[in-house]
Amino acid sequence: MPPSERPGATGAFARAAKGQWAFANNSAQRTTPSWGSLVEYCRSDLVYTEAGHAVAGVHGAGGWGDLRRQCTLRGTPGAEAIRLSSAILQPKAVYSPGAPQRLTTQGDTGRMAEQPIRFAVVGLGMGVHHCKDLVDARGCELVAICDSAPERLEKNREQFGARAYTSYADLLAADDVDVVNICTPSGSHADLSVQALKAGKHVVCEKPPDVTVEAVDRMIAAQQETGRKLMVIFQSRFEPIYRRLKETIESGRLGNLVGVHGTVNWWRAQSYFNSPGMWKGTWALDGGGSLANQGVHTVDILHWLAGPVVEVYGKYGCFAHEIETEDKTVAVLTFANGALGTLTTTTAAYPGLDRTVFIHGSKGSVVVEDDELVRWKIQGESKEAEAEEERQMLASFGKKSDRDATTASDPFAFATRGHMAQFEAFADAVRNDTTPPNSIETTRHTVEILTAVYESGRTGNTIRLG
Ligand SMILES: NC(=O)c1ccc[n+]([C@@H]2O[C@H](COP(=O)([O-])OP(=O)(O)OC[C@H]3O[C@@H](n4cnc5c(N)ncnc54)[C@H](O)[C@@H]3O)[C@@H](O)[C@H]2O)c1
Repeated sequence: MPPSERPGATGAFARAAKGQWAFANNSAQRTTPSWGSLVEYCRSDLVYTEAGHAVAGVHGAGGWGDLRRQCTLRGTPGAEAIRLSSAILQPKAVYSPGAPQRLTTQGDTGRMAEQPIRFAVVGLGMGVHHCKDLVDARGCELVAICDSAPERLEKNREQFGARAYTSYADLLAADDVDVVNICTPSGSHADLSVQALKAGKHVVCEKPPDVTVEAVDRMIAAQQETGRKLMVIFQSRFEPIYRRLKETIESGRLGNLVGVHGTVNWWRAQSYFNSPGMWKGTWALDGGGSLANQGVHTVDILHWLAGPVVEVYGKYGCFAHEIETEDKTVAVLTFANGALGTLTTTTAAYPGLDRTVFIHGSKGSVVVEDDELVRWKIQGESKEAEAEEERQMLASFGKKSDRDATTASDPFAFATRGHMAQFEAFADAVRNDTTPPNSIETTRHTVEILTAVYESGRTGNTIRLG
C-alpha cells in the first residue's frame, strides 16, 4: 500500500531509491502535487525528488532516524550532498523504514518526545502565515486562533483545525495555550502583549513591537515582572546572508565601519491603505507609513549589523497616497562606532523596486539587494583570493536565479522560512528557559530610531538617542 494511503498518514511521503520511506509533515508539500517520488539520496544527508525538492536528513542506524526538515532546492539530482546545519535544519518527523507500520512523529522518541509548545495566533491577516508555519515548525503546535472579525475566523477555522475565538479575553483564559502570537495592528501590540504576559502566557509579537518607545517600555516592564518570554518577529535577522554579514563585521574583516546604508523602494496601491480596518497609514495604529511599516525591517537590520545609532536627522512627506502619515522618508544616521548612515524608505516607487543594504568598512564593501548578495568585496591576500571569495559567496548567497549546482555545497542554499525558524527557536527558549532570539529589549532601538526620524521631520531638529 502506498504510504500516503496508510491509515493515519497525513503528511507527504516519498520513496527513496533503496526502498526507504521518508515522511515529511509539511503542509506546503502536502499541497504541492509536483513533489514527485524520490529519485536519489546522496551520501547520508540528502534525498532529491524528481521535482527538485529534497528531504534533508541524517541516515541513522534505524533508517531515517533523524529526518530533518524538508526544503526546496534548485540543485540538480545527483549533485553533491549538502552539508547540514543543525542551526537551520531540525528534526520534524520520521517514518521508520525498518518497521513500515510504525510512523514516528513528534512526541514519540528521544528529542521529539518532548511535549510541543502550544501556540494561539491572534489576528488573521499576517497571522495566517504564522498558522501555516506553526503547523510545520518542530516542537510547536497550533491549538487556537482568534480574530475579532468573525468572517476571518470562519475562513481559517477549518483549514487549521484549531479552536476559534472572537474574544481575546476568552483565549487568554484557555489553559492549554502556552504562547500567544500577536498579529494585530501594530499600535495594539503592547496592550495585547501585556495582557497576555499578565495572564501567564509567553508572547510572540509581530513587528514592530509597537509604535512608540513608551509602549515598548511597557512591554519590557511586563516581561520582566512576569518572567514570561517575549519575542518580536524580525525575520530578516534570520536571513542567512545577514547572519554571515554580521559575523564578518564582528570578526573585524570589514575593518572599521565607514558607511551603513539602507533603502526600501517599494510601491503600495491606495487600495492597500483602504483595506478593512483602515489602520494602515495612520499614526495611532501604524506609527507612520513607509518607514514604520515597510522600512522597519531595514531599520532593524542596520542597527543589528552595525550597532546603535546615536544621532538622527530626518525628513518625510506624503506624495502619492491619501493617508495621514507618509509614503517617503529620508534620514541621516550617526552610529556609536562613528560610521555614517543613510536610510530612505518609500511606498511611492511604482511599480515597486528593490530593498538594498550597503555596508562598507575600511577593508571592504558588501551590497545586499532583496536579501540576496550582489557584491562581496573584502581585501584579501591577493586580487585572485578576493575574487574567489566573492565567487563563492555569490554562489551561496547571491541571486537565487543564478545559484547552480555548486550551491549544493552550502547549507544556506535552500529556502528558509524566517518565521518558522523563529517559532522553533522560541519553542526551544520556552522549553529550556533561555532568552529567545529577537528579545523585546533588542528591538526597542528599532522603534527609537524610526520615531526619531519622524520627530526630526516634524521639528527640524537633529535627535540624540541613548
Ligand atoms: N513580519 C512581516 O513581514 C509582516 C508582514 C505583514 C504584516 N506584519 C505585521 O502584522 C501585523 C498585522 O498586519 P496585517 O497586515 O495582518 O493586518 P490586518 O489588518 O490584515 O490583520 C489584522 C487582524 O487583526 C484583527 N484584530 C484586530 N484587533 C484585534 C483584537 N483585539 N483581537 C482579535 N483580533 C483583532 C483584525 O480583525 C484583523 O483581522 C502588523 O503589526 C504588521 O506590521 C508583519
